[in-house]
Amino acid sequence: MDRDSATAVRAFRPLPAPVSAPGADGFPPFRWSVLAAFPADSLAAALRHAHRPDGEPAIAVVLGATHRPDDDALLLEGAARATATGRRLVLLHRGAGGGSLLRAAALESPGLRVTVLQTAGPVDGTRIAHLVRTARPVDELHVAADGLVTRDDWRPVTLPVRPGPAAARPGGTVLVTGGLGGLGLRAAGVLSRVAGCRPVLLDVTAPAELNRRPAVLLERLRAAGTLVLTADLTDPRAVAAALERVPGPVRAVVHCAGLVAGGPVARTCPEDLARLRAAKVDGLRHVLDVLDPAELRQLVAFGSITARVPHRQMGGYGLANELLRHETLRRAAALPHCATVVAEWSVWSGAGQAHEMRAVDQARRMGMAPVALVPGMTALLCLLRWPPGPAHAASVILTGPGDRTFPPPADCARNSPT
Ligand SMILES: NC(=O)c1ccc[n+]([C@@H]2O[C@H](COP(=O)([O-])OP(=O)(O)OC[C@H]3O[C@@H](n4cnc5c(N)ncnc54)[C@H](OP(=O)(O)O)[C@@H]3O)[C@@H](O)[C@H]2O)c1
Repeated sequence: MDRDSATAVRAFRPLPAPVSAPGADGFPPFRWSVLAAFPADSLAAALRHAHRPDGEPAIAVVLGATHRPDDDALLLEGAARATATGRRLVLLHRGAGGGSLLRAAALESPGLRVTVLQTAGPVDGTRIAHLVRTARPVDELHVAADGLVTRDDWRPVTLPVRPGPAAARPGGTVLVTGGLGGLGLRAAGVLSRVAGCRPVLLDVTAPAELNRRPAVLLERLRAAGTLVLTADLTDPRAVAAALERVPGPVRAVVHCAGLVAGGPVARTCPEDLARLRAAKVDGLRHVLDVLDPAELRQLVAFGSITARVPHRQMGGYGLANELLRHETLRRAAALPHCATVVAEWSVWSGAGQAHEMRAVDQARRMGMAPVALVPGMTALLCLLRWPPGPAHAASVILTGPGDRTFPPPADCARNSPT
């Protein structure tokens, strides 16, 4: 593994780009149907105030600052009603998210028009109507407290130079959740062999359930002293009991646990969404609740590009990864010495679920450029060198060179002004 292989992965970070906002006059009003997490919410009130009986019928889902379990039903109901009636669908939120799910629904249902607005302050109904009329479908718009409107552009970034073995050794244990999965097992191998770390694997799968090839990889790791813990990350008590067996402080977490599953948004129910995010979001929370925040030096959460760019059949998975990003960055604020990165990977080739499910060729045909195993693992080592401290906590999108789907093309048609 060398530095060249890291350059075979392209990395991007979001860069807020101002959106020009012409005067709000002259934009036809809406006749809103509002589905609100909190009926008294000022955004919901602004929509009701701007409601015009002769306006274009539209559905708004209004969510708060963090995603609540009940928000799943609101998002799915909004998508279903907008699809059934041909109405425009608008998601307004203050940080709860949900755009990944609704934009996947729009891909799956021709004619469904979706706009996503995140706002940090009050916005009046006329302005909302104006932003909805002028937004590009590809964007999630952010309205700052001072009224500045931005969308995410994508800036290529160079990953930190990967460390030599001595520098990489965190001086303690690296916990790999989902450590018996396709990528977790390979990550543990690289952390042990190349970086000289001491991985501990935590997975709901018991070692005896592995098939032949991963079982051989696991045996090698065990021969080198790797500890394997079996626990369901969605069960906080099981996580606490398992982590009690770890000798010494955990200095790094590579969070790979998660369910990888697809299906159309129209056939998804709230329980499916909860199941898809349980190991990723609740699991991360349960692990961090047990570990000593003062000891943690590195946290890399395995997220997905589907949280950024919608993919057919992957709306629920995209939402799980969007919420993983929110949770990871929120928790980073309480990890004073930790380098925290959400790695939002494209599809991997060579190992992992997409590889096992033979989905990599299909991804290539769609224009995606898979992350190959060696460059991807080299990139992981580079991410473990991310600058420490909450101020540097970040998400990074990682894909193979020549990806035609990311950054998403900017020339997408505007929503129709009529
Ligand atoms: N493969 C890719 O192309 C790709 C691309 C982007 C992002 N990612 C992300 O990378 C991570 C690893 O992916 P992968 O392809 O290696 O998937 P994987 O082979 O399915 O590995 C995930 C592991 O997590 C385990 N797990 C699931 N639920 C758990 C729970 N409640 N408690 C503890 N462990 C649990 C799984 O066990 P079971 O097998 O028993 O469920 C599995 O061993 C995932 O978070 C995935 O979303 C993967």
